[in-house]
Amino acid sequence: MKKNLVLIGFMGTGKSSIARILSRKLGVPMVSIDDLIENREGKKIAEIFKDSGESYFRSVESQVVRDVANHESAVIDCGGGVVLNPQNMLALKKSGVLIHLTCGPEEILRRIKLQPQRPLLDVADPLAKINELLQERQPYYSQADISMDTTDGALEKAAEEIIKKVRHE
Ligand code: S3P
Repeated sequence: MKKNLVLIGFMGTGKSSIARILSRKLGVPMVSIDDLIENREGKKIAEIFKDSGESYFRSVESQVVRDVANHESAVIDCGGGVVLNPQNMLALKKSGVLIHLTCGPEEILRRIKLQPQRPLLDVADPLAKINELLQERQPYYSQADISMDTTDGALEKAAEEIIKKVRHE
């Protein structure tokens, strides 16, 4: 496998967990764009948003995407908003197969509550925000080569299905 497997999708759709499973099953490294941003900035993402704002975060994110797109044979775990920048999408499409993970909004909310470090959803009505952002981002996410739903939480099975689909690509 020379091409990367690039996981895109909304927060809470299981990108990091599935990236870990794919990495183990395929014996290839996993790269997390959010982790690289945090390492580069020496802060958690929520702090970057608080201290410097979303547009600063997005500029660091694009630099990291550019670097990561040069990898080969890796599983790339993207933050949910990576798709908003057309340059990011171009670089990622060139570097590998784009895999879009989906999940129902209520289940996204349940998962996010268990891991509440998402600044964009730290609002009075997170479910309304999830629906709004999902709608806004749908045209970008739908550019993926493969789509996989994770609402039932069977992530090992989802990873196996992804591997089968990638082999047909
Ligand atoms: C974001 C998703 C987050 C993180 C940041 C912004 C987004 O990553 O990059 O909080 O805009 O959807 P996850 O999708 O891994 O939670």
